Amino acid sequence: MILFKNVQIPQAEKWLKSDILIEHGRFEELSPNIDRSIVKKGEVVDAEGGFLLPALIDPHVHVREPGFDHKENWETCSKAALKGGFCTIFDMPNNKVPVVDSITLLEKKKIALKKSYVDFGLYIALTDENIEEIMKEEVQCEICGVKVYLAHTTGGLIVKSENALLNVFRQPKPVLIHTGGVQGLERILYFYEKASIQVPSLPILYICHVSTDEEVKLIKKYKKKFPNIFAEATPHHLFLNKSNYTHYNSVLPHLAQIEDSESLWNGIAEGVLNVIGTDHAPHTLDEKKGKNPPSGFPGLETALPLLFEACLDGRIKPTDLLHLTSITARSLFGIGEGEILKGRRADCVLLKEGNFLIGEDGYVTKCGWSPFNGRKIKYRPVMTITGGTTAYRSGKFYKRDISFLTMHSIKR
Ligand code: DOR
Ligand code: ZN
Ligand code: ZN
Repeated sequence: MILFKNVQIPQAEKWLKSDILIEHGRFEELSPNIDRSIVKKGEVVDAEGGFLLPALIDPHVHVREPGFDHKENWETCSKAALKGGFCTIFDMPNNKVPVVDSITLLEKKKIALKKSYVDFGLYIALTDENIEEIMKEEVQCEICGVKVYLAHTTGGLIVKSENALLNVFRQPKPVLIHTGGVQGLERILYFYEKASIQVPSLPILYICHVSTDEEVKLIKKYKKKFPNIFAEATPHHLFLNKSNYTHYNSVLPHLAQIEDSESLWNGIAEGVLNVIGTDHAPHTLDEKKGKNPPSGFPGLETALPLLFEACLDGRIKPTDLLHLTSITARSLFGIGEGEILKGRRADCVLLKEGNFLIGEDGYVTKCGWSPFNGRKIKYRPVMTITGGTTAYRSGKFYKRDISFLTMHSIKR
């Protein structure tokens, strides 16, 4: 049993003061004055007016293990997730040995089940030749989606075959695209439209890390015709641009102009961009300082404080924040609604106020750095609850049984 005294929870477009009782893994009671004495076994947490949000879901994480364990592994990555307020992550397939078949998939599942501190799902990558493998029952029941790389990035998994790009829409799992820019976006939309003539019920098309105004406009146009198109924004493309961050700035897609970031914020307000994915892509600082630095930023520990501040500043509405970080991803991947309501599974994160600097308490991600290092923030996550039990609190992590999620495998 956990009783939160004096928290603020999202309610419509406002924040509501309440006490919250969690029992048997669920939100049991939400009301202004719950008596402390009912907690016989468990704890009372005085939140001192802090904010309680649904724990976040990240559909776009590069855990790196197996293969690139010197950058990150399942333990460090899932702990970074918990510290950042995430209860669930979905892992990309561009490992050293790419995840393209049931053998590589099951090998990763085995490692993650042993080491992860959060619930997780796994993607398989499309190649020019593996669509039949992806269609197999034994693969379909293990994946939460199919990742398609249309352009260069870590791992070099580029799909060229037109047949593969058309047939991937014959399988039911969400198809996630690394477009490489507007040309790749046009290309995949062409195949999606073509498939729509032959396939009665198209899978979700999820456009990763939208970064330019041009892409936002194109997605806006296509979403009118295809409601199953969803688009992702990353915190780094929202908050960073070519002019305000130049340090270890190699990332794909590249940081764009400030006007592009503005267009992403507008895209969020208009419902063109629907999900925040961190694209947590850790590389060591030595690698980043080298001659040909690999692309990618870590992002799990910094996303929530940044977004929450944007919400308090009025840049995003509270309901949009919840949809972007939890509700939409949960519905896309079939893992329940994730709101703070009586009877719902208690996955939540407590944010407390202070004068904090990003990175002042160190990083949990093995790569140990952040492009947001040193930024002032007013709120930070201090406690993450998953399935009603404390998984992270003030620098300490608690391992519990975790769930392997495949789309629609779990209804909460
Ligand atoms: O910058 C990036 N790094 N973009 C990606 O799409 C992949 C990622 C990685 O895996 O390093
Ligand atoms: Zn990508
Ligand atoms: Zn990525």
